[in-house]
Formats: sequence, structure tokens, C-alpha cells
Amino acid sequence: MQDDIDRVLIDRAAIADRVKALADQITGDLCAAAPDGGAGDHAPPTDPVNITLIPILTGSFIFAADLIRHLPLLLQIRLLSVSSYPGASTSPRQARVRDEMTHLPASLEGNHVLLLDDILDSGQTLQMAIDLLRDRRPASLHTAVLLRKRRPQAMAVPVDYVAFDIPDEFVVGYGLDFNDYYRNLPDIVTLKDDVVRRGQQAEQHAM
Ligand code: IMP
Ligand code: MG
Repeated sequence: MQDDIDRVLIDRAAIADRVKALADQITGDLCAAAPDGGAGDHAPPTDPVNITLIPILTGSFIFAADLIRHLPLLLQIRLLSVSSYPGASTSPRQARVRDEMTHLPASLEGNHVLLLDDILDSGQTLQMAIDLLRDRRPASLHTAVLLRKRRPQAMAVPVDYVAFDIPDEFVVGYGLDFNDYYRNLPDIVTLKDDVVRRGQQAEQHAM
């Protein structure tokens, strides 16, 4: 697996630092919004508001796991599974909800929702998820992405929290995949061209 890496774009230490900083910012904002929120010391509100975090699976599971452990707040996790890069594709296709992996309540009324995604590329996935959640009438809806590609479509989508802006390149690691592999790489990296080419050829033969 290590041999397939072209270069490290963001290493694990930089990711850890930035995720912690983002979590502190989110905690401050949520505490400020809560009736008894201790925004100053980041203490959990004594009369908690309903906070619901919704990671978009599969790509954001590691980001979500790291982020929530820096949020000292009473909160619930609900899951939304969306597939937009089926197989060994590196360019976006139609995003669709995978019902079997999605666990959302019918109503989110009274809930302050934070939607998490791994990467903002064409913006399709996030926009679809936002529309789906708005129908469930949350008290508020905010969005956080680990990565945002510096391309016009991605920059045009309003997001509340962005950990890193990156060049418009295909990346894997820290939850992001190519053909469902490489999610376990601790750093965010690019793959060698021939690895991507071989992955795409293998997929075509399997079809
Ligand atoms: P969008 O709908 O085009 O914004 O793409 C978002 C989804 O596509 C993400 O949640 C990822 O699962 C996937 N994706 C987009 N860019 C990349 C990438 O560079 N590497 C791996 N997955 C990506
Ligand atoms: Mg993916």
C-alpha cells in the first residue's frame, strides 16, 4: 500500500492539529447558541440543546470519529450514507442515498444539526444531503468538511467549517478511498498515476 503513494499532501500531525482547532471553534459556536452554554470554558450546557451530528458515510467516518472526541457536548450521531464515486472512478457521478446504511429520524425538529463530509468536490453530495435534512425541519443546519477542492464548483457551495482547502487533485487516506481502498492511510495522499490506471482497468474487466 505504501508503494502506491505518490506524495503526502497533509500529514497526520497537521490533520490532528487542525481537527482539534475546528472542534474548538464548533464547540464555541454551539455553546454560544445553547441557552446555558458555557462558551467561555467550553463546559457542556446544563440544559442541553439537542445537537445531532450527521457524518456522511463512508468517507467521513474517521474525520467524525476524531472530531467528536474533541466536542465536550451532549450530542447524538445519526448516519447518512451516500455513494457518489462508485468503484474505481475519480470523477463524480450522480450522488445517491444508500438506504440500508442510513439511520435518520423522520423529523429533526428542535435539533441543531451539524452535517459532516470528507471532501467537497462537485458539491453534489453535500447539496443533496442538505436538501434531505432540510425536509426534516432541523432547528439549525450547519456543515463541516475536512477538505475542499480549489475548483469553482466546490468553492461555490456555502459551508460553515472547512478544515483544509486543497488543490483540485484526487486524494485518498484518512477515510477517503479509491475503489474502497486506502481509507486506512493515516495521512492524506495522492496516488501514483499507474495505480489509478490499473484500478480503473481492473474495474472495467470486472464489468
Ligand atoms: P461531490 O459530490 O462531487 O462534492 O463529491 C463528494 C464525494 O465524492 C465525497 O464525499 C467523496 O466520497 C468523493 N470524493 C470526491 N473527491 C474525492 C477525492 O479526491 N478522493 C476520494 N473521494 C473523493
Ligand atoms: Mg468515496
